[in-house]
Amino acid sequence: MTYAAFRSIGAYIPPKIMTNADFEKIIDTSDEWITKRTGIKERRISEKNEAPSDMGAKAAELAIQRAGINKEDIDLVICATVTPDFLCMPSTACVIASKLGLPPVMAYDISAACTGFVYATSVAKAFIESGMKKNVLIIGAEKYTSILDYTDRGTCFIFGDGAGAAIISATENKDEAIVDVNCSSDGNYDDLIKTPGGGSLNPCSQEVLDAKMACIKMKGNETFKLAVKTLTSDVQVMMKKHNLSNDDIDHFIPHQANYRIIKAVGDALGMNEEQTVVTVDKYGNTSAASIPMAMNYAYEQGKIKKGDMVLFDAFGGGLTWGSALFKFSPNN
Ligand code: UT7
Repeated sequence: MTYAAFRSIGAYIPPKIMTNADFEKIIDTSDEWITKRTGIKERRISEKNEAPSDMGAKAAELAIQRAGINKEDIDLVICATVTPDFLCMPSTACVIASKLGLPPVMAYDISAACTGFVYATSVAKAFIESGMKKNVLIIGAEKYTSILDYTDRGTCFIFGDGAGAAIISATENKDEAIVDVNCSSDGNYDDLIKTPGGGSLNPCSQEVLDAKMACIKMKGNETFKLAVKTLTSDVQVMMKKHNLSNDDIDHFIPHQANYRIIKAVGDALGMNEEQTVVTVDKYGNTSAASIPMAMNYAYEQGKIKKGDMVLFDAFGGGLTWGSALFKFSPNN
């Protein structure tokens, strides 16, 4: 039997910082309000000409180097993003593969909003276990600043830019195997987080631009309540299925949307502060990049070590949600 092993993590954190004080200058808000309601102090902003593929390629370079594999051995590239370089084509994954200098390779994007990286983990696992692929590069890369309406005081201060990446490879060693990934969705809640214009239903026009329909619209408070409920039950199902308790988890990495959500979910699950990775204060919500950026942060702090049990827990537009349970299994 062939299994899928989570070999490495990498990220690209754009150097430019936008603080809450910067938002005080453009919307009716305060550092105190944003900190209290979200835990966010600052977020990273990419350069104007910096695309998700640029950020994704930089994160991928690090993940490839840390996995100790040759680029030529990568046989699948998946990029999770809802802010692709181009609306339709080419996919951001194709652009990243080219920027990395990979030989011709299967490459495509996944659109699952903030759950995208967990969806990508699931797909990588399935391709490897089926024997079709051996080394899968998964990336979460987002440039939310390109879809923000900076007059929408209920939404614009939450999001930031960045990218994370990982290598998932085939192994015959069951001890290294990703234990489980469970992903789901419910399109009945499609109105909670949406970019209503710019797609084929409401193609780009002056009217769409004037109404800022190509920007993200979020019903924050309704989303908040569903996020807490879903993120909690998602993990409870996963833990019960594998007969695990919270003591078995070394690193709980929830989607970084709002510290109050992270705290409520952590408390409901009995996860302590040591176990729970939090980067929302530094990076804000970076959607599909949020979980790998958070994992990379904990890794670079020396907290995540070989053999540690990691649990991802994500929730986002669609609605989509998912969790992944695995032992971090670098080659060295
Ligand atoms: O990543 C995908 C999933 N996304 C999420 O999980 C996001 C979930 N939602 C949230 O994080 C929160 O709902 C927000 C941070 C977006 C908003 O916090 P909230 O506690 O749900 O606030 P609210 O929308 O219920 O608004 C409360 C008050 C309102 O004033 P009144 O009506 O009580 O007088 C708003 O007008 O806060 C006001 N408000 C603000 N005040 C200062 C809304 N935005 C701001 C702001 N600064 N930026």
